[in-house]
Amino acid sequence: MANRQLNVISICGSLRKGSFNRMVMNALPGLAPAGMSIKEAPSFAAFPLYNADVQNLTGFPAPVNTLADAIRAADGVIFNTPEYNFSLPGGLKNAIDWVSRLKEQPFVGKPIAIQSASPGPVGGARVQYDLRKMMCFLDALTLNKPEIFVGSVASRVDDKTGEIKDETTRNLIKQQLEAFAHFIERHGAKG
Ligand SMILES: Cc1cc2nc3c(=O)[nH]c(=O)nc-3n(C[C@H](O)[C@H](O)[C@H](O)COP(=O)(O)O)c2cc1C
Repeated sequence: MANRQLNVISICGSLRKGSFNRMVMNALPGLAPAGMSIKEAPSFAAFPLYNADVQNLTGFPAPVNTLADAIRAADGVIFNTPEYNFSLPGGLKNAIDWVSRLKEQPFVGKPIAIQSASPGPVGGARVQYDLRKMMCFLDALTLNKPEIFVGSVASRVDDKTGEIKDETTRNLIKQQLEAFAHFIERHGAKG
């Protein structure tokens, strides 16, 4: 249980309608400790490809500022992302690249938690280390443990309702969210 109201946002790294990572993300509000709300961040789907010329000629696209404002206003950010070719999906990388160029870079001092899901057995472990590395450069504060790698995800979710039917996975996520609440209270800028 959190000692104060914590407003957390989640960013889904997959744009796909039937995304497994989105299913895990959608389950988070029901698994969060008392006092923690988790809402989806504004979408990065409309971001153009990062190009410094666009930034310099026409400024930051409006959706970039919208996402950055939501990150700044949140007590913490959770990434729910697939692994693409052992790293970040291009869309998510592009989104982070855009917001990272803003003057008030929104990830500075921001508590971060990472979750990944994959139909494969490793559950996207490798994307997490690349994302951690990026968060390190951006001076965010990334929760170390517990780590959430949802391997063989197709067998752990109900593809009709999108619910996580595997109790072990649900419990691990609950533990991470509880740890994240304490982490935010200890280290978060508003803590
Ligand atoms: C371009 C691409 C690269 C992928 N690379 C990996 C990978 O490195 N590791 C992995 O576990 N799965 C990989 N996959 C499979 C994804 O984990 C799988 O498509 C997953 O369902 C994507 O997440 P989503 O369901 O949230 O969209 C890759 C898929 C795509 C489209």
